[in-house]
Amino acid sequence: MGTIASPGVSTSAPPSTTVALADLSAARTGTLALVGHLDDPTLTRALSPIMSPLVWDLAHIAAYEDLWLAHRYGGLELLRGDLAELYDAFETPRAIRSEVQLLDPPSARAYLREVRQRTVAIIEREGIGDGVIFELVLRHELQHSETMRQTLALAGLLPAGEPSLRPLSEEGGAMIGERDWIEIPAGPFEMGATEDGFAYDNERPRHLAHTEAFAIARLPVSNAAWLHFSDDGGYQRREWWSPEGWAYKQERQLGPHPDIAHGHPDAPVCHISFFEASAFAQAHAARLPSETEWEKAASSSPSVLGAVGQVWEWTSSNFCGYPGFRAYPYREYSEVFFGEAYLVLRGGSWASSPRVASATFRNWDYPQRRQIFAGLRLAKDPA
Ligand code: AVJ
Ligand code: FE
Repeated sequence: MGTIASPGVSTSAPPSTTVALADLSAARTGTLALVGHLDDPTLTRALSPIMSPLVWDLAHIAAYEDLWLAHRYGGLELLRGDLAELYDAFETPRAIRSEVQLLDPPSARAYLREVRQRTVAIIEREGIGDGVIFELVLRHELQHSETMRQTLALAGLLPAGEPSLRPLSEEGGAMIGERDWIEIPAGPFEMGATEDGFAYDNERPRHLAHTEAFAIARLPVSNAAWLHFSDDGGYQRREWWSPEGWAYKQERQLGPHPDIAHGHPDAPVCHISFFEASAFAQAHAARLPSETEWEKAASSSPSVLGAVGQVWEWTSSNFCGYPGFRAYPYREYSEVFFGEAYLVLRGGSWASSPRVASATFRNWDYPQRRQIFAGLRLAKDPA
């Protein structure tokens, strides 16, 4: 966390069998540790209407590993074909996951264990090949550990010591303030993941992208800056908000997320929606960066962006395919989300694994969502 892999640098060599097995095992230890302090009713209940019961995430992690590593890669029959639909994210969407009969927590843990025995046997026998399916499965579990942390945060049930957001002044010393802007010249750069190694389909193909000259803040916005915005009428000043953002906020009478006032004043602000982020930018005569601008700034060597990896950063870009996009290995990872409904977030959060959150990684969510660990970094046109 706090570091991102340099884009364009080959990470192509798949890990050895030994390392691959150790990585899978470490991810599993992390997943189980996340829920170790919770009793079975807490794991089974819907802790939020917009999230899955945690026990669904657990069995879904097992089902995904069985589908991709044991069945598609290893050629085995599904261990529990009868559960495939229940733990497919599309067949059983979040909204109904608390209404259907799920495996109970001991059975979900057993499912995880039994699938893992199969995948370990396959990897010991055959290795991981080019590593693509292995990475897909490993990163899937790591991504769900962040989703589960969102659920836990909503319920006030994060394990001790979390969230871990560090003051921005620790990044680069006292000379660097939020007000520092970095000027990026107009011109092309190579955007997206290179052909070697694992990347999600939506990060490819790597292509030449252009930006005009722009300025981007060296650091994300802090809790103190957010409270200042709020005290300054940020949630009352109609002119700072988009029509959709204003309507959403008014309907739900939203003010600043309660965690903001409790956080360290100099830590990056978190639990910000795209609607709120856009209003904040408007109030500061700035805007959000496009994802192209973000990646250009992040991939200049060395990256000029400070404090990447503490909070996801909203961009002004809708989630779409790069020119020449091809879905793999399945349309439901990315392609079905392309369009105007979702905005792209970049960087990663304190809850993201750096293995997932590379400089080319694209996250996406609805503009109103703020259960995610998202803040913002300002951009603007050059003076
Ligand atoms: C990339 C975080 C938007 O959680 O919907 C998990 C990741 N895909 N299981 C999501 C994912 C399939 C995805 N995000
Ligand atoms: Fe999933």
